[in-house]
Amino acid sequence: MKECEWISIAAMDINRVIGSGNKLPWNIPKDMIWFKTATKGHILITGRKTFESMKKIYPENEYYILTRNRNYTSDQVNVKVIHKIEEIPDTGSEGKKVWICGGSEIYKATIGKCKYIYITQIKKSFEGNRYFPEFESDFYLEQVFYEDEEISIKKYKRATKGV
Ligand SMILES: NC(=O)c1ccc[n+]([C@@H]2O[C@H](COP(=O)([O-])OP(=O)(O)OC[C@H]3O[C@@H](n4cnc5c(N)ncnc54)[C@H](OP(=O)(O)O)[C@@H]3O)[C@@H](O)[C@H]2O)c1
Repeated sequence: MKECEWISIAAMDINRVIGSGNKLPWNIPKDMIWFKTATKGHILITGRKTFESMKKIYPENEYYILTRNRNYTSDQVNVKVIHKIEEIPDTGSEGKKVWICGGSEIYKATIGKCKYIYITQIKKSFEGNRYFPEFESDFYLEQVFYEDEEISIKKYKRATKGV
């Protein structure tokens, strides 16, 4: 069986908050730049709500949108609508990686199959009602990419076999 190479990428606060309604609770441009750079040219998986909240769709990325609505369509050539977690490709091809980009429902539904998690840890608390799932018992910290007084960017790798 082919190993799953999904990479989850998220920013969360000290209480695991990632969102408030359909919005990010913060505006941290350096984290947006990090997200855009890391995922550029790759396959991005999002829930329908997160996709609709994205300010810009980049032509070099391939987007897979998860929705249970069979009538949901997109006329953009680089946007594919899917209806099940099982339709997410296990791995990318031609050097493309599969990035799980949220939101909370999609992180929760995919965390058991992710190989890596990139977390921007925001060192404050914010009001919010969307959370990143617990993952720490199944992953170990592999690298700290960046650290300042406001955020740190960390890469985790799965320590135990995924589901
Ligand atoms: N901090 C971060 O890094 C980060 C990143 C991304 C998003 N966010 C935040 O997360 C929040 C959005 O998260 P959310 O949980 O509300 O919504 P979401 O995960 O973006 O989207 C949920 C939608 O995805 C579809 N869906 C979910 N599970 C599915 C499944 N198993 N099969 C098929 N479709 C499925 C459904 O769409 P239908 O209703 O169309 O059926 C569902 O309503 C926002 O606040 C956003 O700003 C934060």
